[in-house]
Amino acid sequence: MKALILVGGFGTRLRPLTLSVPKPLVDFANKPMILHQIEALKAIGVEEVVLAINYQPEVMLNFLKEFEKKLGIKITCSQETEPLGTAGPLALARDKLIDDSGEPFFVLNSDVISEYPLKQMIEFHKSHGGEASIMVTKVDEPSKYGVVVMDESTGKVEKFVEKPKLFVGNKINAGIYLLNPSVLDRIELRPTSIEKEVFPSIAAEQKLYAMVLPGFWMDIGQPKDYITGLRLYLNSLRKNSSSMLAVGSHIVGNVLVDETAKIGEGCLIGPDVAIGPGCVVESGVRLSRCTVMRGVRIKKHACISSSIIGWHSTVGQWARVENMTILGEDVHVGDEIYSNGGVVLPHKEIKSSILKPEIVM
Ligand code: GDD
Ligand code: MG
Repeated sequence: MKALILVGGFGTRLRPLTLSVPKPLVDFANKPMILHQIEALKAIGVEEVVLAINYQPEVMLNFLKEFEKKLGIKITCSQETEPLGTAGPLALARDKLIDDSGEPFFVLNSDVISEYPLKQMIEFHKSHGGEASIMVTKVDEPSKYGVVVMDESTGKVEKFVEKPKLFVGNKINAGIYLLNPSVLDRIELRPTSIEKEVFPSIAAEQKLYAMVLPGFWMDIGQPKDYITGLRLYLNSLRKNSSSMLAVGSHIVGNVLVDETAKIGEGCLIGPDVAIGPGCVVESGVRLSRCTVMRGVRIKKHACISSSIIGWHSTVGQWARVENMTILGEDVHVGDEIYSNGGVVLPHKEIKSSILKPEIVM
């Protein structure tokens, strides 16, 4: 089986992290977002993943070469010279997606996180005999997604509306599709949207089916959702009794600590924290609802909550970092500094407190 991951877009909503790497390579729960997806695809027998890219392809490919070998999966690139939207890239990669088997292929948005119940999706696809299957999930704020109106008992989609202005329903497109090769005959090689053009027309022919995704789901393409997504992801590890979660008297709730990270005396860590490889957390540090990426040093008695600390940054002693503070790569926060929602660009040194949410250039 094959799969295509939509990797394009500039990831502006995840700046400053995406100033250092393309969005799919931003770490989530201690590994690049896209690896969560590639591993899930590999686990159900996908042999080749095509990355539909329009931005920094060399960076992606160099990085993924290593995992091609480790995971034993073929990873290739299909590069656009202009952004082709969410459907055009499928037309561009047509020859890579179709083979003699006539099998359906997966298409994934690169910024969604879930338990990837892809096996169940294959079963579902076989069972309804339609042309395309999509996963849907319920959310409170459907207007920022693609909304699906469906027959709950059969899964048949009656209507697909991308980012509706008026309320149509609360079941939304989760960005995980299984498509028959014939769907490619519906897509021209030009900038076009699968959500606005392709799905509505398949639905009109009653050949589009939706499966309600079991378990959690989140689009982690913006900081607030990224932090919520980490909570849901760790919760799901807990539910599945994962041995990856940290244990100890200094741990509260669900926490991931890379085995190469060092944690000092008297820290209190959690809930909902990920600490990446090579991090040094000195004594008396308090961390909750935050991500600390590879190579970060957090000095004595610093306190971090609801924030993302980018790669190789440092947080000074007795500093307080909170309220959606996002530090880009290699940012250095001085001792005793307070950051209330500061969004700090890479390679900066913060010498005075950031008292209200703002971008520090
Ligand atoms: N190759 C390529 N080229 N990829 C693209 C392009 C492009 O021109 N434009 C967007 N993408 C990729 C993005 O990188 C992302 O992985 C995916 O297509 C969806 O784009 P987003 O920009 O993240 O869209 P969204 O989050 O507003 O909405 C989409 O996702 C929602 C779920 O998170 C839609 O599919 C909605 O229907 C859906 O509900
Ligand atoms: Mg998105």
